[in-house]
Amino acid sequence: MGTLLLDNIGQLVLPLADEGTTKSPLHIIHNAALLIDEGHVAWIGTRDEFKKEHPDFSAEEVDLHGQCIMPGFVDSHTHVVFAGERIDEMERRCRGESYEEIAAAGGGIAFSASQMTTISENDLVEQSIPRLDTLIQKGTTTCEIKSGYGLEPQAELKQLRAIKALQAQHPMDIKATVLAHIVPQPFKTKRADYIKIFSDDVLEQAARQELAHYCDIFIEEGAFSRDEARLIAKRAKALGLGLKLHVDQLTSGQGAELAAELGALSADHLERISPTGPAMLAKAGVIATMLPACKLFLGAGPWVNGRNLRDAGCEVAVATDCNPGSAMVSDLPLCATMAATLGGLSLAEALWGITRGGAKALGLNDRGTLNVGERADLVVLEHSDWRALLYRPANPPIARVMIQGRWMQNTLS
Ligand code: NIG
Ligand code: FE
Repeated sequence: MGTLLLDNIGQLVLPLADEGTTKSPLHIIHNAALLIDEGHVAWIGTRDEFKKEHPDFSAEEVDLHGQCIMPGFVDSHTHVVFAGERIDEMERRCRGESYEEIAAAGGGIAFSASQMTTISENDLVEQSIPRLDTLIQKGTTTCEIKSGYGLEPQAELKQLRAIKALQAQHPMDIKATVLAHIVPQPFKTKRADYIKIFSDDVLEQAARQELAHYCDIFIEEGAFSRDEARLIAKRAKALGLGLKLHVDQLTSGQGAELAAELGALSADHLERISPTGPAMLAKAGVIATMLPACKLFLGAGPWVNGRNLRDAGCEVAVATDCNPGSAMVSDLPLCATMAATLGGLSLAEALWGITRGGAKALGLNDRGTLNVGERADLVVLEHSDWRALLYRPANPPIARVMIQGRWMQNTLS
């Protein structure tokens, strides 16, 4: 892989390691250079400093002609491995049915689960590859993927194995999460039995076979209660899995408070967080994750209020939630634009949310800032002002994307 100098960078955008309560969580070096060695960042600074410190430099160089560089985006919440689309559900919602009504009538997550039972592991992998390719084209270099469409243990484990196969063969850096999504139909009157089976079989196997790094639980009416979530979370933590939670999305359920109580890495959704929730998340150091594509896609319900979260002291990540039912969206910069224009974040906070914020929501300290020693995961913007990324929603001027020192072929023009 060797050494590569990226020279003549107009703006080198470096998110701060911690967002804290800073007004602008980005540091920008103008007229910069960035040296990559063996897939990692080896040096950053101004061009002048580089020339002074390396007068005899002679390895490969790329002239960026004043374009911007920022860290590759970290999508900390997706469900991109699934079987079967749900286009008709969008049509039904546009005619007045709600997401909850469609789910109660056998659609929604249960429909995706029915598709998961018949698909082969190989087809699941093949169908997911183009989705991951699209994420990379939009600048994402690390992506979390959840299970949760299997429901029954065998199908959950099949979905997790497909994610593991993608980890091995796709250039995207993938982190896997085992998701307790809903209780499947045969267990509707035996919920405690399902929780036991999910814990004993799915969580146990996922941890033992290293099929997952994290556990997530959908806490919602029609999904899991807070007490049920406590049981699942306890087992997950005992198995060494990091905890992430879907909370306060469709109803207000004191989910943020539970995330704080359980010491989750992140609390995701938060459209209906309680008035005391933001301060609780901030105090417990739980990353608040905005998923604004859900509102774009479903139409109903409030926008998540990122300003409120930041003002309470939370560090805020932004993710796509890419899934076939509530957010068929692979464009993380678009989500960052919505987090700013409709969710109240500044442009700098929105960029922090899809870079370092996403990394923190996954507990990862080797990416998201482009500091020396980090993975060389980066996005080159065909513009001299980094804010053009968010100024052109759905059409971000991304020139190329690098993952661990390698240019992604599908992003080279
Ligand atoms: O994050 N909220 C739960 N899970 C997904 C939706 C899953 C689906 O509808 O397929 C979400 O929105
Ligand atoms: Fe989700």
